[in-house]
Amino acid sequence: MAMKKSSIWNSIADNTKYSVSISSISGVSYICNNGKRSLIERIFWIGMVICMIILAAWQGLSVYTHYKERPVIVTVDNAYFEWKFEFPTATICSVDLKPDSQLRTIIEKLNLKLNISRQLLGSEYADFINYLQDLAFKNYMSYHEYKEYSARIKREFLHPDQYMEVLDEVTLNIAETTGKPAINFPMKQVRPVLRVFTEWGPCMVANPNVSIYFTPKYFNSSNLYADYQPIVFTVNDLTSFLFQKPNSTKGVSHIYFHAPNEVMEIMDRKDTLPHQRFLTSKYEADVVQTSQNVLPLTVEQKNCRLPLDYGEEPLLHSPVYSYNLCKFECRIKIALKYCNCTPYYYRRLAHEPICNLSGLYCLSKYKTQLIYARDSSIECPNCLQNCDVYVFRGYETALPYTFLQTTLDTGIIFPNIVYIRNLVYSKIDLTGDLIFYKL
Ligand SMILES: *[C@@H]1O[C@H](CO)[C@@H](O)[C@H](O)[C@H]1NC(C)=O
Ligand SMILES: *[C@@H]1O[C@H](CO)[C@@H](O)[C@H](O)[C@H]1NC(C)=O
Ligand SMILES: *[C@@H]1O[C@H](CO)[C@@H](O)[C@H](O)[C@H]1NC(C)=O
Ligand SMILES: *[C@@H]1O[C@H](CO)[C@@H](O)[C@H](O)[C@H]1NC(C)=O
Ligand SMILES: *[C@@H]1O[C@H](CO)[C@@H](O)[C@H](O)[C@H]1NC(C)=O
Repeated sequence: MAMKKSSIWNSIADNTKYSVSISSISGVSYICNNGKRSLIERIFWIGMVICMIILAAWQGLSVYTHYKERPVIVTVDNAYFEWKFEFPTATICSVDLKPDSQLRTIIEKLNLKLNISRQLLGSEYADFINYLQDLAFKNYMSYHEYKEYSARIKREFLHPDQYMEVLDEVTLNIAETTGKPAINFPMKQVRPVLRVFTEWGPCMVANPNVSIYFTPKYFNSSNLYADYQPIVFTVNDLTSFLFQKPNSTKGVSHIYFHAPNEVMEIMDRKDTLPHQRFLTSKYEADVVQTSQNVLPLTVEQKNCRLPLDYGEEPLLHSPVYSYNLCKFECRIKIALKYCNCTPYYYRRLAHEPICNLSGLYCLSKYKTQLIYARDSSIECPNCLQNCDVYVFRGYETALPYTFLQTTLDTGIIFPNIVYIRNLVYSKIDLTGDLIFYKL
């Protein structure tokens, strides 16, 4: 056994001597070469070798640091025929209300005590009904219009916890309309059309993915679902999206196209579809996708976030991450700090109250901070971009013409440029570079 060990050591020593003697760093061989060199010369070369090792280590470290910190670059992709995109999600907000009487019936069903107060407070109740109807279409841009109401209405005829339920019932639900479906998806695919609560009030969402967390069914849920897969299209597919509004309604509709991995937010661009008009629009997508080998990196290395990045600080109000959901997080913090409540359309934690009329009027005083999701006295999360970004740019919108049925026909233009987040330094490049610097 001992014999064997020593022979291994001998062989290692021989090998080292051999590799040192042929090493391209000439100094190393000068150190150990048979006694021809003087002591001073050897000390000089030992010094030189140490300096070079330090230099190599420093250079290696800088490569390593680069790998650790910014190993991703964005490149232009040209595999045009292999590109696959997700068809946008459409959020449709219609300014249509069912009749007054329906709203009164619902409120009275929910609030039996109302019976007495209604007689006592006739005009205040009427004001409150108007306020509720408004609520469906108001947002940060218009909450200041509640000034008058907030002076006149002193009683709550409906608890804010019930706003959502009531607004769901009294606003247009195109999924409920019978007969012809209101939406034709591209490529004859079928996707759900669901009620969704947004910063523009109660809307409908078609081809939802992340948006499901704002539908009543999942509003309180923090589970993950895989039931809502977006429609995928390639260059060979015709991608036209047709929306036809039920004939019985007369209001204007606003339609927002956004990525399935995103939710609509207050500043997004929209198409506006008036009653009994035919509108044709075209959108082109600006696309950034992330290559497979980037996905396992840390968020810091990627400099973007996936819907699920394990180990990263999650959003408090959402089980998945997106850039807009991160902005919502900031708006929620601002609303809670200044008005101690949040609007009914945000997801909430148990102790966070829903804004009543005075709460919403209070929000109007912080309009700028809320819209830009920025306030110097509040620590908002650092909102990184989504790793996969689809921005749908309005490309061409013709003037709407009169038509029997209110219709929107939208074409999504296949992009001709795609940006890919790619790895510059893989681990293999890294070891290669380190070896290169050593020799
Ligand atoms: C409501 O008022 C009507 C008459 O105005 C009365 O018959 C009814 O019992 C009242 N209901 C409640 C729950 O107080
Ligand atoms: C709204 O809520 C606040 C605090 O929760 C309360 O003081 C106020 O009276 C409420 N406003 C109305 C109109 O009920
Ligand atoms: C969410 O939970 C709260 C209380 O737990 C409940 O009052 C509310 O109705 C729920 N919302 C939905 C949409 O299910
Ligand atoms: C959203 O789509 C992705 C694929 O793009 C899928 O993995 C995920 O499960 C979907 N989310 C839901 C809620 O269905
Ligand atoms: C709406 O009215 C038009 C014209 O009367 C008709 O062609 C169309 O089928 C109607 N749409 C629905 C969904 O009933």
